[in-house]
Amino acid sequence: MSPDGTPSQTANVQDAIVEPESHTEQERDRIAPQTSLGSPATAGQDEGATTSATTVTKQGLSVRLEDLRAFYGEAEQVKGINLDFNANEVTAIIGPSGCGKSTMVRCINRMHEEIPGAHAEGRVLLDEMDVYDPNVDVVAVRRAIGMVFQKPNPFPTMTVFDNVAAGLRLSSGRGTHGKADLRTKVEAALRGAGLWDEVADRLDAPGAGLSGGQQQRLCIARSLAVEPEVILMDEPCSALDPIATLKIEELIDELKKRVTIVIVTHNMQQAARVADRTAFMLSGELVEVGPTQKIFTNPDDSRTEEYVTGKFG
Ligand SMILES: Nc1ncnc2c1ncn2[C@@H]1O[C@H](COP(=O)(O)OP(=O)(O)OP(=O)(O)O)[C@@H](O)[C@H]1O
Ligand SMILES: [Mg+2]
Repeated sequence: MSPDGTPSQTANVQDAIVEPESHTEQERDRIAPQTSLGSPATAGQDEGATTSATTVTKQGLSVRLEDLRAFYGEAEQVKGINLDFNANEVTAIIGPSGCGKSTMVRCINRMHEEIPGAHAEGRVLLDEMDVYDPNVDVVAVRRAIGMVFQKPNPFPTMTVFDNVAAGLRLSSGRGTHGKADLRTKVEAALRGAGLWDEVADRLDAPGAGLSGGQQQRLCIARSLAVEPEVILMDEPCSALDPIATLKIEELIDELKKRVTIVIVTHNMQQAARVADRTAFMLSGELVEVGPTQKIFTNPDDSRTEEYVTGKFG
């Protein structure tokens, strides 16, 4: 790939994620996310280069689950799921409590395996690359596939600015970012998360001092800062009031222009509002997936209909 942006994003991501056998200085730069996973708008820029904070545009990547199974010890809780998440679309995952939604989503960026005794089987393809390939760098996978949790979890002792910069600093190693560059990227991420106007004059205030909705957008900004291709959201609004929820939903609509979004929700109206496609899970299995409107108005499976009409769950 060329450092100044390439026509093939797949090649970019594969270059970035497949762990090189040895890391020379040059190679380390090559796999740094800000160049190799970066968008054409930002890739390959020198420190302090002038960029407009609003010019970051990015195409999401598709994700395909092939016979995905997830276990806690011996217990199989995701039981052979085949599912496509289309690039630059929002896919909602619905289903009753305990059916495996969070587990399935955590398998997509390999967070599941962090749980002691847990493992996954099958394949998760980010575009064409299997994120479970043994040569893949798991840290880079999680940079490419970000995650936002149910409860906003900003780093409590960090400022607003540092919360967003944290991911960049962690991923860049030694001083890849100049100050001006870091500020540009933090501003871009905060703008992307629809939070800039509310925090521009309090970047040095503690992140924990923001409202719940602002904290959740701060977490979204933090995940956007490393320029992911996919964002997984596990009930991102369940701790928020309706107005904060609406803001996140509007944001999701905006974000899908540049990333692919998977959102777990218990809120049927939310799924109907934000999702292009909806997948219904039951007991660790995928019952059906389709255009959101079809799932809610004319599903193929009677169990889906019972669930979306509130007969169980
Ligand atoms: N850390 C764990 N150890 C053992 N079993 C677990 C663990 N986490 C989840 N499970 C089990 O896996 C199954 C699926 O759980 P999961 O959290 O994925 O469901 P969910 O659909 O996200 O539910 P909810 O809607 O309540 O969040 C459940 O039976 C749950 O008890
Ligand atoms: Mg869950």
